Amino acid sequence: MKSKAAFLALLVVQCVGAFLFPLRPSWQRTEANQLHMSKTALQSPVSKNLALPSSVQVTLLDRLGNGTFGGVHLAVDEVRGEKLIAKCARAATDDSRAKTNAAAYLDIEGFINSKLCPLHNNTNNADATSSCGMQHIAPYLGEVVLDDTKYLIWEASGEYTLEDYVEMEDGWLQLANDLGVSLNEEAVADYNNNDESGSNQREQLHNQLAAEVLRQLLEGLAYCHSRGVCHRDIKPANILVDPATHTLRLIDFGSACDMSSWSPKKLGYRGEDKGPRSILYCAPEEFVDPESPYAFDIYSAAITWLRTMLSDDNIDSENTLASDESEYPHGLAEEDHLFQWRIAVRDFGHNLVSWEEWATLHNSLPYGWNSLFGKSRQGIQSLRLLSNMMSYNPDHRMSASEALLCPYLNPGCNAEAPELPPAMPWSIMSHIQRWKKDKQVHSWQDEECNIDDLFTKVVAAEVSAADLTSRLEKANGGIEVTGGGDKCDTGLCDGDALLAIGSIDVETAPLEHVNELLEQWPRDKLIPLLLVRDSV
Ligand SMILES: Nc1ncnc2c1ncn2[C@@H]1O[C@H](COP(=O)(O)OP(=O)(O)O)[C@@H](O)[C@H]1O
Ligand SMILES: [Mg+2]
Repeated sequence: MKSKAAFLALLVVQCVGAFLFPLRPSWQRTEANQLHMSKTALQSPVSKNLALPSSVQVTLLDRLGNGTFGGVHLAVDEVRGEKLIAKCARAATDDSRAKTNAAAYLDIEGFINSKLCPLHNNTNNADATSSCGMQHIAPYLGEVVLDDTKYLIWEASGEYTLEDYVEMEDGWLQLANDLGVSLNEEAVADYNNNDESGSNQREQLHNQLAAEVLRQLLEGLAYCHSRGVCHRDIKPANILVDPATHTLRLIDFGSACDMSSWSPKKLGYRGEDKGPRSILYCAPEEFVDPESPYAFDIYSAAITWLRTMLSDDNIDSENTLASDESEYPHGLAEEDHLFQWRIAVRDFGHNLVSWEEWATLHNSLPYGWNSLFGKSRQGIQSLRLLSNMMSYNPDHRMSASEALLCPYLNPGCNAEAPELPPAMPWSIMSHIQRWKKDKQVHSWQDEECNIDDLFTKVVAAEVSAADLTSRLEKANGGIEVTGGGDKCDTGLCDGDALLAIGSIDVETAPLEHVNELLEQWPRDKLIPLLLVRDSV
């Protein structure tokens, strides 16, 4: 793989970000915002960041990456002798504002990690954290103060990030090895049956690896999104590979925001058009869209995946030399090539299929493209998924859980819907609009997998206060609707679990608060609800 830190190109990237994404979707900010309640009696739940268990004794060792990651140290747990990672706040400049910001980002990172890896909070047992079930999140242990400096502590879980593999010679072979991907005979047979041009085993291994990388990346995101967390900085350098467990692990939640809070104040989110982003990987909407917040990560995951899987000029051993005339002889490994490619796709109205037609005619496909998206059934399915993940309109992108059920990642359609709650929406309005249109935005035409079930579990309803009165009660750890008999005449069914009222997430709110909120609702206005309903 070719590694060229294209400093100049990056400079250009920073300057022309606005040029890359000049168009703001007009559908974005309409009446939906009117539903956001500006005043509410609800208070944000007080949540504590995890403190490091006293059984872990940290000694700091060297800084990582020769200072590249100024605030990140290798460390060791003196009790167990295990390697740890310790991160402290690092300001880009010396002024006090930069320092305050750095400290705030560290606090957010601690909060988000406590939310995603909460295990030892309950068990008080440090061992439990080593099997933190969220296998795609780096295992977080808690925060500690050493010499007056606050550090967040993780178990060290791998040495290389996807960025490192992009830069290694034959990095994809190493990645396949570290993720435990080897040629699977069934997949090879399936591939050969559908690939008239014939293909060699090296290409097949590359294709298997591509599916595995995307699956794990989406599993990690599905988990974060189900907890209301939007990562906001998905890129190869923030995805660690743990060879011991063959897993990808998401790291660096310093830019993340928590969209699920039932308080109107969302941790880490400072309103539209504000917030951190990496231009090379960010979605066309540029900032997290309040109506489809998680779609931002889906777009970045698509670009991350593409760069990782198209970063070698040696995918096919019988055709090792990439054409020197090609615009992208080394795939998309080099950042300036990735940037050029994103401009090219933008110039085709963000329509990947139109760009591909043009690029095929003009010999402008990045090296490796045909191997990944060729004429095989798998190739067609992977391109279809990629196109969806890169939809210009965030509302058209599939959620991570939906993408995991698509034919490319779910051959034979055997996979069950992941056992995750649906991603928490911030605003109910987009769901109501979708519901009214009675339209399945993400259904797969001509494909065997039917993923509608996942959708029908979340339903929107608008009800009068009279219809809702006395029908809410605490059940199954949340609030459920009861007392309506067999019929769902009012739009509510018995057993519906309450997710949101207006734009406010009430899934885990106390019943008294919810009743208080309903009392404040104007009597002459219908109450918009978001509910989880068992699909029949
Ligand atoms: N849990 C972990 N295990 C192993 N290495 C890690 C872990 N967390 C971070 N690192 C290493 O530290 C580097 C920087 O971490 P990151 O959280 O991305 O910090 P930064 O905010 O400086 O980008 C990563 O590229 C990775 O090499
Ligand atoms: Mg990072």
